[in-house]
Amino acid sequence: MATKIILDCDPGHDDAIALVLAHGNPEIDLVAVTTVMGNQTLEKVTRNALSIARVAGITGVPFAAGCPRPLVREIETAPTIHGESGLDGPVLPDPLIELDRRHAVDLIIDTIMAHEPGEITLVPTGALTNIALAVRKEPRIAARVKQVVLMGGGYHVGNWSATAEFNIVIDPEAAHIVFNETWPLTMIGLDLTHQALATPEVAARIAAVGTAPARFVGELLEFFAETYKEAQGFEHPPVHDPCAVAYVIDPSVIQVRRAPLDVELTGTLTLGMTVADFRAPAPADCTTQVATDLDQEKFWSLVVDALERIGDPA
Ligand code: BDR
Ligand code: CA
Repeated sequence: MATKIILDCDPGHDDAIALVLAHGNPEIDLVAVTTVMGNQTLEKVTRNALSIARVAGITGVPFAAGCPRPLVREIETAPTIHGESGLDGPVLPDPLIELDRRHAVDLIIDTIMAHEPGEITLVPTGALTNIALAVRKEPRIAARVKQVVLMGGGYHVGNWSATAEFNIVIDPEAAHIVFNETWPLTMIGLDLTHQALATPEVAARIAAVGTAPARFVGELLEFFAETYKEAQGFEHPPVHDPCAVAYVIDPSVIQVRRAPLDVELTGTLTLGMTVADFRAPAPADCTTQVATDLDQEKFWSLVVDALERIGDPA
């Protein structure tokens, strides 16, 4: 049976590819998509999510907009990486589907509570604002979700500061709430996603699919490659967010290690740092783990396979 997921995202080039992978893979049942400010304003990332739905032919899935700013801090966006629209590069078609009328936090809670315990997996690929508010508003969801598999953090490197990753540092208080809940949590951090590089060979495999969604993804990757080179000195861009979806599809794509995890809230140089305690052995009650190694061939094959299955939506 396919795994039911809620994708909470801020599209965002790599969020867009995460959405494509979740929609195109038969092991995933995408039951809701929620948006949160991050790569751009809430208004922009929400419109982007609906545009992607049109490109990929996603219908019958509720999309809801969530939080327009972090819990405590001012909003910080990432135009140097994702452009002014949040999804610069390809032409973004006007959305065909309408937003769900609920706030993302309520859609998340309603969806989890309407399913059996252990049925829903949460896949956040943006700031953790919506997820933190959802579990504060309805604490029973903590015991009902199967697991949280999130893209964010890193145990050795940062990208928005020397020690912190973007999704975590723009709303560290929300991340602190989510990391300290009782649900099983897998952190797919930069240590892992910096192995998911969109090389020219990867771009060629995607181009060979030859469909409109594949061209769209190709154009996203072209833009992403330029900004990642300019802003962060990467020869090929790391495509973070679909790694979290890939782990849900097939855990053998990513090796993990159990370790207690927490988020730094008070450091002057380390605000938003995700701290993994690798002293062995991990305590028996440890519910957190970090991603360490990516099977790159399997990962990109999943992305290409999803595009092939999606084909050219009418
Ligand atoms: C994360 O930050 C965002 O810019 C990307 O979409 C990804 O989720 C990487 O640090
Ligand atoms: Ca993201």
